[in-house]
Amino acid sequence: MAQVGYSKKVLEHFLNPRNVGTIENPDGYGKVGNPVCGDLMEMFIRVKDDIITDIKFRTFGCGSAIATSSMVTEMAKGMHVDQAMKLTRDDVANELEGLPPQKMHCSNLAADALHEAIKDYKRKKEG
Ligand code: FES
Repeated sequence: MAQVGYSKKVLEHFLNPRNVGTIENPDGYGKVGNPVCGDLMEMFIRVKDDIITDIKFRTFGCGSAIATSSMVTEMAKGMHVDQAMKLTRDDVANELEGLPPQKMHCSNLAADALHEAIKDYKRKKEG
């Protein structure tokens, strides 16, 4: 796989993904589909005083989607929701030491699902 441009960090997160699973009655939930490949991503967050205290994801996406979601959940845990809202796919890809260009669309899923989960949290909070 190295010859198609995956960093060691991508492979490590793909083989050993963090925060896989679901959260029952989450404070925020986001689900997005990837228009390029049709894959799906779900993100669940637990929030206390606007800080993301727990986060889990579930995906039918490819290896890059798994690696980027694993990375984004690690980055977002402990973050203020407004700060996490600003995480972009580029932040995630940079943290993973790059993704092959043909796989950048996969990293949209992780950031978008996180943003949807935060929007859902804010909607619920405003009631
Ligand atoms: Fe679908 Fe990567 S190919 S998420």
